[in-house]
Amino acid sequence: MARVRTGVLISGRGSNLQALLDAAANPDFPAEIVCVISNRPGAGGLARAEAAGIAALTVDHKAFGTREAFENALHAELQNQGVELVCLAGFMRLLTPGFVNRWTGRMLNIHPSLLPSFKGVDTHQRALDAGVKLTGASVHFVSAEMDAGPIIGQAAIPVLPGDDADALAARVLGAEHQLYPECLRQVASGEARLEGGHVILAHAAAPQALLVNPPPRS
Ligand code: GAR
Repeated sequence: MARVRTGVLISGRGSNLQALLDAAANPDFPAEIVCVISNRPGAGGLARAEAAGIAALTVDHKAFGTREAFENALHAELQNQGVELVCLAGFMRLLTPGFVNRWTGRMLNIHPSLLPSFKGVDTHQRALDAGVKLTGASVHFVSAEMDAGPIIGQAAIPVLPGDDADALAARVLGAEHQLYPECLRQVASGEARLEGGHVILAHAAAPQALLVNPPPRS
């Protein structure tokens, strides 16, 4: 079966990109990463792409007068590379509805919270301030509204006494690295399908799977 040609957009260190590259290194993985594009010159993730022998490109948003001009250049580059599916992995530019609509149902994002809680920036501090006892990460299809598209998958982790934003971010990031490749696998294989604005999973967690914090004592 032909693998789905996937482009990854980054802005920074690219640890989620690395998780996707590692998964896609298996020829049985249904998505092939064909290019990585950063909007920031010198982003750490570009070196990860180069190390994996994958086209590492920069489309510097600062080189364009308008958001639309930047996005047109991004779109052209994705098309040049024959990209069918886009993964945002720590891509920190807001995308206009014009760009998002060109990739409806074909663009994924990862966000470090259990959406729809804590959209936007500063997620971990806001989760701590709210006193939640579980937090985590979400992978969703990108829609015009930020962090609001149909959810493909989520990973939950406990918030521990003494956690600060950095400690929480580190544990959520570990969960992200497990979640994102699996969501990409399900989308690329057609196991996860968009139906009526929601995602239906062919392979979901076992019905008895449960994370309770505090854990019940027997
Ligand atoms: C990740 O935690 C990702 O969820 C977050 O940026 C980090 C990127 O790390 N994305 C967002 O906050 C998007 N709203 P990485 O470059 O090591 O993958």
